[in-house]
Amino acid sequence: MAQTPAPNLNTTDKATAYAQLRAEIAAVLEGEPNLIARMVTVVALLAATFDSYFWTGFYLVDPDRPNELVVGPYQGTLGCLRIAFGRGVCGAAAQSRQTQIVPDVHAFPGHIACDSRSNSEIVVPVFDRGGALIGVLDVDSTAYGAFDEVDAAGLQAILGDVFGSR
Ligand code: SME
Repeated sequence: MAQTPAPNLNTTDKATAYAQLRAEIAAVLEGEPNLIARMVTVVALLAATFDSYFWTGFYLVDPDRPNELVVGPYQGTLGCLRIAFGRGVCGAAAQSRQTQIVPDVHAFPGHIACDSRSNSEIVVPVFDRGGALIGVLDVDSTAYGAFDEVDAAGLQAILGDVFGSR
């Protein structure tokens, strides 16, 4: 199968873009405590910044079913509504509480194909100020290998600022 090259910025530009975005998000959200407003803003600014982002959104731990994620604020094509912990890339991130970088989703056991155009993804767990898991941020790309450690560090820093203890 022909592989689309990742339409990525180079590493330095990408790190700079995440740093600028981190400052912009912090400025926009200053004084706004509402969680939905914070999530929508993160999604909107991430999706507008990176051309490589095809689907950008949150899956949140369902308080009524603590081992299940339910879809939260996102931009992109229709997402699956619910994902059990341990299922697919989002479920793996929620269960392990570790960032998942998947260069080829078709090679990931149990990957959930909400949109067949997605070829790679990164999923970052999201924690509240007390360290409890709130959910995950899922970013999918139509390119293979679109995400690396620079994306992981950039997203973790933003999510730590917005929802965590930083
Ligand atoms: N790709 C995800 C499912 C969610 S969507 O792609 C929007 C996964 O396997 O966890």
